[in-house]
Amino acid sequence: MLATSLLFLLRFHANMATSMASQAAARGLRAASFRHLFLDKVKCTTVSPRRWLNLQEYQSKKLMQESGVAVQRFYVADSASEALKAAKRLNAKEIVLKAQILAGGRGKGVFDSGLKGGVHLTKDPAVVGELAKKMLGFNLTTKQTPKDGVKVKTVMVAEALDISRETYFAILMDRSCNGPVMVGSPQGGMDIEEVAASTPELIFKEIIDIFEGVRDDQALRMAANLGFKGPLQRQAADQIKRLYDLFLKVDATQVEVNPLGETPEGQVVCFDAKINFDDNAEFRQKAVFAMDDMTESDPTEMEAAKWDLKYIGLDGNIACFVNGAGLAMATCDIIDLHGGKPANFLDLGGGVKERQVYEAFKLLTADPKVEAILVNIFGGIVNCAIIANGITKACRELELKVPLVVRLEGTNVTEAKRILTESGLPITAAENLDDAARKAVAAIKKE
Ligand SMILES: *[C@@H]1O[C@H](CO)[C@@H](O)[C@H](O)[C@H]1NC(C)=O
Ligand SMILES: *[C@@H]1O[C@H](CO)[C@@H](O)[C@H](O)[C@H]1NC(C)=O
Repeated sequence: MLATSLLFLLRFHANMATSMASQAAARGLRAASFRHLFLDKVKCTTVSPRRWLNLQEYQSKKLMQESGVAVQRFYVADSASEALKAAKRLNAKEIVLKAQILAGGRGKGVFDSGLKGGVHLTKDPAVVGELAKKMLGFNLTTKQTPKDGVKVKTVMVAEALDISRETYFAILMDRSCNGPVMVGSPQGGMDIEEVAASTPELIFKEIIDIFEGVRDDQALRMAANLGFKGPLQRQAADQIKRLYDLFLKVDATQVEVNPLGETPEGQVVCFDAKINFDDNAEFRQKAVFAMDDMTESDPTEMEAAKWDLKYIGLDGNIACFVNGAGLAMATCDIIDLHGGKPANFLDLGGGVKERQVYEAFKLLTADPKVEAILVNIFGGIVNCAIIANGITKACRELELKVPLVVRLEGTNVTEAKRILTESGLPITAAENLDDAARKAVAAIKKE
């Protein structure tokens, strides 16, 4: 897969396997939900890793603007007086004021200032100033935030536009096509999974040749399929090409515009967009990654990063401790094959330290969904004795209550096995990955 990080692949893959195992895919865990359409099966699934580099709405819109994508005119403010100034400067018929937080459900949220709603429409700039005063510096609680809410540091003041028609458009990296694909539907503004499930004939797809880019005929065909008529068709095709430019420019793995709408004045506008980024491209997307606002990120992932571990939360019940994304994918598949589902993954990098193993166990077991732990460490350079020591220490100090299955392969395996056996702890040894997955799934079923 082109320009796609292993971690992305892992999320993608892990989620594909888990969603196949269960129709009840993880839904709406957080704002960082990543959508993948199973294009070939015309079936949709929502998969939700816990965290992703997630930009605020105004940040995404700035990136879009820079690529010439049509968005509503807007300003950003971090004080009420600036918000008021911005509202005046917009000189718009109607203004929309939006609190900038990552979590969804803003419209129905409540501020601890007493103000209801993180999104307000008004025609009066003075009202924008008044409302901003009750937003900035206060916590906004929505269905997706922690119960104390998230502090609002920025508001977006934008021109409100009427929408006469809403469509859905996305560009994403698709595994089955080995590259980017455009997906669109004339049924926008709603849950695209639902559209795909109830009216799959309204989902259109165009495979993009990575060398050629989006061809004119493709862009026009997509625009027509989205239901744009007359001069709007060209405009929409133009927007589609610009969105693809953006996709390439920022190393996105997905750009989703919902809705891509038209106004009564005959303008095609991207009203809302979600951009996911390839985290392997961080080295050349410094400006994008610098926008990452850690205050809303998953504390488990942050804690993991502190110990040089990568954590990915999923919705099953088997915690997985592995080294390498490839091994994580294989582990996920085989757990799935045996009828289980991973709860999470912790990826141990190269240079293993005992303390790291201990911290890894702490993180894995902190997840209340976890009913069993599977350790699958494999590699010529891994000193398994260190891992075994870390495991026994963690088991004792954390008073591990769930079944633990361990498969270690590398150097010092004999030593590692001795450490585990002599510990007297109830650890199930496994010979290989298949054996380990089978035993972990069986351990849960037994309980
Ligand atoms: C407001 O939200 C922040 C997180 O952004 C949190 O740390 C803080 O405790 C909250 N404050 C109140 C008063 O609830
Ligand atoms: C095997 O473990 C011992 C101590 O447990 C250590 O001294 C030795 O370096 C290890 N061997 C390798 C190849 O890591």
